Amino acid sequence: MRINMSRSWAMPNSNTFSIKPIKNLIKPYLVGKGVSQVVDPFVRNSPFKNLCISNDLDPLIDAQFHMDALDFLKTFDDRKVDVVLFDPPYSTRQVSECYRKMDKAVNMETTQSLFWTNLKREVGRIVSPNGICITCGWNSGGIGKSLGFSIEEILLVAHGGWHNDTIITVERKANALV
Ligand SMILES: C[S@@+](CC[C@H](N)C(=O)[O-])C[C@H]1O[C@@H](n2cnc3c(N)ncnc32)[C@H](O)[C@@H]1O
Repeated sequence: MRINMSRSWAMPNSNTFSIKPIKNLIKPYLVGKGVSQVVDPFVRNSPFKNLCISNDLDPLIDAQFHMDALDFLKTFDDRKVDVVLFDPPYSTRQVSECYRKMDKAVNMETTQSLFWTNLKREVGRIVSPNGICITCGWNSGGIGKSLGFSIEEILLVAHGGWHNDTIITVERKANALV
C-alpha cells in the first residue's frame, strides 16, 4: 500500500491543530461524506472543537468533558466512531507535567509506554470499519497494524533549530471486523 508523505515547516505551537499545515491536513477528513461522529480526547484549543465530541483533563479548557482520556474513550461503543483525533502528550515527561498540574497521581501507568498502549487499544476498539485516526506525536507509530489500521498519509512538520518535528500519521481501519 502506498503512503503519501510530505514535509512542511511551521513555528511550533502547543495548540497543535492551529499549526497551518496540520490544520489543512485534518480538515478534509472531518467534513467528508459519511462522517458523523468525530472524537477528540485531548482537545485543548483545537479549531475543530465544534465538529467533535471534545474532552480534556484540564478543567480550564473549554470542552464537553473533563475526564481522563482513557475513561472518556471507554464510554464509546465498539466500531461507532468515524474519526478520532489523537493528540496526546508526546513524552512521559509531558504526561507527568500534566498530571502534576491537575494534582493527579504520577505512577507506573502514567510514566511508561503503557499509557499510550492502553489509549491506542481503546481507539482501535471504537473506530468504525473504514474509519480514520489522525495521530500526532514524535513518532509515526499511530494506532498500528495489530489493531487493524494501515497508514495512508504522513506529514512531517519541521520547526527549525534542533526542535523535534511534529509527525502526523493518518491511518484507516480495515473494512472488516477486528
Ligand atoms: C498536545 S495537547 C492537544 C492540543 C490540541 N490538539 C490542540 O490543537 O489544541 C494535549 C492535551 O491533552 C490534555 N491531557 C493530558 N493528559 C490527559 C489525559 N490523561 N486525559 C485527557 N486529557 C489529557 C492536556 O491538558 C492538553 O490540553
